[in-house]
Formats: sequence, C-alpha cells, structure tokens
Amino acid sequence: MAEPPLPLADRMQCIDASGIRKVFDLAAQLADPVNLSIGQPDFDVPEACKRQAIDAILAGRNKYTVTQGDAATREAIAESLRKEFGAFDGPVLVTSGVSGGLLLAFLATLNPGDEVLVPDPYFVMYKHLVRLLGARPVFVDTYPDFRLRADRLEAAVTERTRMLVLNSPANPTGVVYTAEELNAAIDVARRHGLLVVSDEIYTAFSYEGPAASAWPMYDRVLLLRGFSKTCAMTGWRLGYCVGPEPIVSAMTTLQQYTFVCAPSPFQAAIGVGLGTDVADHIETFRRRRDLIYEGLKERFTVEKPSGAFYIFPEAPGGSGTAFVRKAIEAGVLVIPGNVFSERDTHFRIAYAADTGTIERGLEVLNRLAATHA
Ligand SMILES: Cc1ncc(COP(=O)(O)O)c(C=O)c1O
Repeated sequence: MAEPPLPLADRMQCIDASGIRKVFDLAAQLADPVNLSIGQPDFDVPEACKRQAIDAILAGRNKYTVTQGDAATREAIAESLRKEFGAFDGPVLVTSGVSGGLLLAFLATLNPGDEVLVPDPYFVMYKHLVRLLGARPVFVDTYPDFRLRADRLEAAVTERTRMLVLNSPANPTGVVYTAEELNAAIDVARRHGLLVVSDEIYTAFSYEGPAASAWPMYDRVLLLRGFSKTCAMTGWRLGYCVGPEPIVSAMTTLQQYTFVCAPSPFQAAIGVGLGTDVADHIETFRRRRDLIYEGLKERFTVEKPSGAFYIFPEAPGGSGTAFVRKAIEAGVLVIPGNVFSERDTHFRIAYAADTGTIERGLEVLNRLAATHA
C-alpha cells in the first residue's frame, strides 16, 4: 500500500522563500565574498547588557517569566516611553523579537479575506505572515522615491481594509518618513478606522535627526520595537509591543500558547539596553551611509537613505535579479529587489559592514554598472 503523503498545510503555499534562497545558494559557492546582504549590525552587544544577562543566568533567572514579560522589564520599557513621549500608561508586552510581535499582532487582528495596506517596497515578513492567515496584502507603490503618499493609500482602501503597516526607518529603502507624511497616512487610517501597525525597529538608526513615531498620532497604533538592531542582539530575540489594550491583551493570550514568554535571562538586560548610549555606533553608520551613497550616486539612480542600514539603488539594465546574479558572480552579495517588492527593478545593499568591505563592494558594483547598462 502506498504511504500517505506527509502532511504539509495548504498555507505553506503562501510562503515563497525562493528569491532569497537563490542568493544564498549562489553565495555558498564563493570563497571570500564581499557580504553586503546582512541585516544585522556588525558591532557586538553592549558589555553592560552581556553582564546583566550572565548575572541573571548565574542568579537562576532561567525559568519562565509571566507571559507578558518580567514586571521590572515592562516598567523599564514604560519608563522609556514616558521619557520619549511625555506620557505612557498602557500595557506592555515583551515579545520574542519584533518578528514575534508581528506574528502575534496579525494573528490577533486579521481574519481571512481582510486587506492590509503595505507600502511597497516592504520588509519581507509582512507579506508572508499576512498571507499565512488568509488575509491579503494590498501593496501601495512608493516608487520612485519611496515616500509615503496619502492619496495612494486612500486609493487602495476598500471595505475589507483593516490595517496599515508602517515601517520607518525602513527596510529595504532606508527611508525615514517625516511627521507630515506620517500624519497624512494616519489621517487615512483614522478616516477608515484602520489599525496601524508601526514597526519602528530601526528608530535609533536615523541620521538627520530623530525619526518621527506614529505612536502619539492616533489611538489605534500598535507600536512594535526591538533590541535586535539597537543593541545588536539579533540572537537574543527581544522586542516589545504597546497599543490598544484589547489587542495587546489578545496578543498576550496568544503568546501564552505559542512563545510562552520572551527569553527570560535576556529580558533582564532590557533595562540596561534601553539606557545604553549607542550614539557612537549611529555616527559610524551615518559615515557608512555617506560613503555608500557618495560611492554609488554617479553610476546608479539611487535615493539617499536617512535611516536603517540599507540603500536601494535601481539595477542597471532594469532587472534586479539579473544584476544581482552578476554581482554575486563577481563576489558581492546583495539582494534582488523582488524579495522586498512586487517589482524587480532595484537591489538592496546592507552597509552594516566595515569601510574596507563597503569600498570593495563599491568598486565591483561600479565596474558592473559601467558594463551592464
Ligand atoms: C523592518 C524589520 N522589522 C522586524 C525585523 C525583525 O526583527 P527581530 O530580530 O526583532 O525579530 C527586521 C529584521 O531584519 C526588520 O528589518
């Protein structure tokens, strides 16, 4: 008798990792690649955070915390929000990274058939998580300058629209929305009663002054922030979510049956992480941003990013995939734009790398641009 097939849910059809996998397959063949594909800082976790986590482990704080996160940790987060926004008294949920927060937020709020406005280009997780739940991402094109335009958002709203996802500073474009742009987008959300999920994981990486936050603009903002980028602790899996009480409460119930809690000894380091001054790192990243932008702007059509650690130039020859293949063959790892977009016209460079690596990458990319038009 033939064996029955292994169970794989239909929803797995919603997820397509092929674009990024192709890049990594090609990259695996390279001996010493110039790696400009990595979305994490190249500095290490602040010493004081490491010490706090080690002390917590040695002191036996290795058990579950309460689902919503250790009380002192939540209070440290609330205090940082009070300092930033003048007032804050809502519930805080400590999550397993912003990724964990995104999954819980979408699980808690989306029904099959619901529509979610996603400015395009977008962080790749939004599209797949929304589709996993049977909801529909509605992409709102922001080319060529990646600015948020309220009229385009408005035009995309239907009676099924439930949510607007914002990400500023943005991955993969490095755009930071102005307060006016955010306000105009929030006005659209307010008019239609939409929930705004504001992914502000890169908020510290803003090079022309503090990044505006959607949080104080509207009472239906679910704010997601994390420590992966600011404190370079991508492997520690720490983030938090604040927002309307019924939604944070639903997310907490879901966390109880999924993640249970964010990693407990690492939660102990959040208070220290929030108090750590990362200004020197940000200044280093600002200089790298200048280096990469100045190094690309003659031969590439490219917007100057003001935040995060990505830049998103147009691919010479018109195809992101074709240009990235050439770049990888020449030893430079970058990611085709269609991983982050419904278009395949650009490519993403992550400049979380030292000056030497960025310069080697620039040299190769400029040489290719000269021959690949
Ligand atoms: C825009 C954005 N949101 C969320 C995440 C996920 O971060 P975390 O490590 O906190 O899950 C990333 C990681 O690259 C990101 O770029």
